[in-house]
Amino acid sequence: MFHIMKHGHYISRFGSKPGLKCIGMHENGIIFNNNPALWKEIRPFFTKENAIVLKIQNYFDAWQALLLKPDIFFKFSWLYKKYEKSARDLKEAIEILIEQKRQKLSIVEKLDDNMDFASQLIFAQSRGELTGENVNQCVLEMLIAAPDTLSVTVFFMLVLIAEHPQVEKAMMKEIQNVLSDREIQSDDMPKLKVVENFILESMRYQPVVDLVMRKALQDDVIDGYPVKKGTNIILNIGRMHRLEFFPKPNEFSLENFEKSVPYRYFQPFGFGPRGCVGKFIAMVMMKAILVTLLRRCSIRTVKGKGLNNIPTNNDLSLHPNENQPLLEMIFIPRCNMEKS
Ligand code: HEM
Repeated sequence: MFHIMKHGHYISRFGSKPGLKCIGMHENGIIFNNNPALWKEIRPFFTKENAIVLKIQNYFDAWQALLLKPDIFFKFSWLYKKYEKSARDLKEAIEILIEQKRQKLSIVEKLDDNMDFASQLIFAQSRGELTGENVNQCVLEMLIAAPDTLSVTVFFMLVLIAEHPQVEKAMMKEIQNVLSDREIQSDDMPKLKVVENFILESMRYQPVVDLVMRKALQDDVIDGYPVKKGTNIILNIGRMHRLEFFPKPNEFSLENFEKSVPYRYFQPFGFGPRGCVGKFIAMVMMKAILVTLLRRCSIRTVKGKGLNNIPTNNDLSLHPNENQPLLEMIFIPRCNMEKS
C-alpha cells in the first residue's frame, strides 16, 4: 500500500471514461484527471487556497453514480441525461462566479488583497497555462473535495463525542488549560494534543474515505508480485486502519494514538503525490470547529441513535444516508448545564 501511494508511477486513478467525460473530470480539473502532465500543472493551485461554499449535491450524486458504470449505460440511460444536466447546471453557476471574479480582478487597485485560489487559476489561464474549462473544473472540484469530506467527518466526530463522555471531558479539560477564556488562535493548534488524537482516532475508526484508487502507469514488482502497466488498484485504507499496528484496532479509544503511529499504517488523507491536498487545512478547520462547538455545547445522541445504527452509504465515500431520520443529536448549551 505504502509503495503504491508513495511512488510517482501511480499518480493516476481509474474510472469509466465516458462517465468522467460526462461530469467533466476526464483530463480536466484534478481529482480524476488521468493526464499526469496536465494534473501536475493544476495540482499546485489546490495547495494554495481556500474553499467556496455552494450546493453541490446533484453534481456529487452524479459523480458517485456514474464513475464506475459500464459504457453501455452512457448510450441509452435517461439517467445519464439527468446527471449530465446536474453537471452542466453546476458548471454554469460556477462560470458566472468566475466571470464575476474576473471582472473584479480587472478593476482592483491592489492585487495582493484579492489573490485567492480562483484568482491564481484565472491568472494561469491568462498566461495560457490552463484553459477556461480547466479553471471551471478546478473550482468545482474544490467544492466537491472540501466541504463534504470535512462536514461528514465532523458529523461522525460529534456522534463519537456523544457516545464517549469521558473523551469529551478530557478534551474540555485540555481546551480550558490551553485557552482559558480566550478565542482559539493558530499558535494554540499544536498544543491541543487530546483534541488532535481524538480527530485522528475518529478518522481511523469511522473514516469518510476508506478506499483510494490508483492506476499503474508502468510495470512494477511489489514484494515479488508483478504489477502490469494499466492495472487498476484499490487500496483499502479503512481496513489498514483496523490492523494490529494499533493497541485496540477494533475499538474507539484514544489509547490508539497515545504512542506515535507509524505513518505508513495510518493515512486517512491518502498519501504521496496524489494524497489529499487539503489535509493541513482540514486538520486546522476540524480543530477550530470542535473547540468552538465543545466550548458552547455538550453533545448527546438521541436514545437508540448511535454510530452503530446510523444508516450509511459507501459510494466513493462513506457518508450517512441523509434521507433517514436517524441523524439527530442533542446540543445542550453549557451555560444551561452550569445553571442546573
Ligand atoms: C476530513 C477532511 C478530508 C478528508 C478525510 C479527505 C480525504 C481525502 C482522500 C482520502 C483523498 C484521496 C487521496 C489519495 O488518493 O491518496 C483526497 C483527495 C483530495 N482532497 Fe481531500 N480530504 C479532506 C478534506 C479536504 C479539503 C478541506 C480539501 C481542499 C481544501 C481537499 C481537497 C482534496 C483534493 C483536491 C483531492 C484530490 C487530489 C488529487 O487527486 O491530486 N480535501 N482527500
